[in-house]
Amino acid sequence: MDKGQLLYEGKAKRLYQTEQEDILFVEYKNSATAFNGEKKAEIDGKGILNNRITTVIFEKLKKQGIDSHFVERISENEQLVRKVEIIPIEVVVRNIAAGSLAKRLGYEEGTPLNRTIVEFYYKDDDLGDPIINNDHIDILGIATKEEVETLYKLGLKVNSVLQPIFEEVGVILVDFKLEFGRDKDGNVLLADEISPDTCRLWDAETKQKLDKDVFRRDLGSLTDVYEIILARLGGK
Ligand code: C5P
Repeated sequence: MDKGQLLYEGKAKRLYQTEQEDILFVEYKNSATAFNGEKKAEIDGKGILNNRITTVIFEKLKKQGIDSHFVERISENEQLVRKVEIIPIEVVVRNIAAGSLAKRLGYEEGTPLNRTIVEFYYKDDDLGDPIINNDHIDILGIATKEEVETLYKLGLKVNSVLQPIFEEVGVILVDFKLEFGRDKDGNVLLADEISPDTCRLWDAETKQKLDKDVFRRDLGSLTDVYEIILARLGGK
């Protein structure tokens, strides 16, 4: 499959058209960004690691009945995905208080929540991705009520599949962000990536951070901890 026109360049990936209308090429970049792009770095090997980790996770989800845009990994830093129109809502699922939730509600980081929660953020860099509720989504007109319900349910379903997968390999799934798109028939499909860039993952024993907080908070080598996640998930 040949790479065609560049359709979109984001902070961590480039999307290209292929000769097949409904299939896109995704190229994972080595760029790391945090705080809405304020902190930036190029990290050798990051693109390869996220391409591999996302592949392993989407394959595991598929085995458990959760479909996504993922088609196949075709090279070290590239994969093919189904074309979708991204819904501009970031769906964040949280099991343990950390990051912006800990800050917003005054929880100590690491406090288990008495239930899993789902939050929605408006995917808009200029606005700094503000947290939104169902009413905001309604007035913005970015998703229907039925779609919002689907996003909520799929967020919890992905959590219920991923939590035990990580638990088995000694990793706590603290929180994560999902993105969804609509395919040409209007069906909602899990999209983007699921990697240590988009999840908080802590070692169950030591509570060592094995995710992008290592970069955000200058805690050491990002690729070293992403390697640990890939190895624990059984990837190479
Ligand atoms: O920063 P916050 O605590 O809201 O992040 C919650 C989760 O969503 C974290 O796992 C973080 O990595 C992820 N996230 C993301 N992309 C964003 C915002 C948050 O992947 N733009």
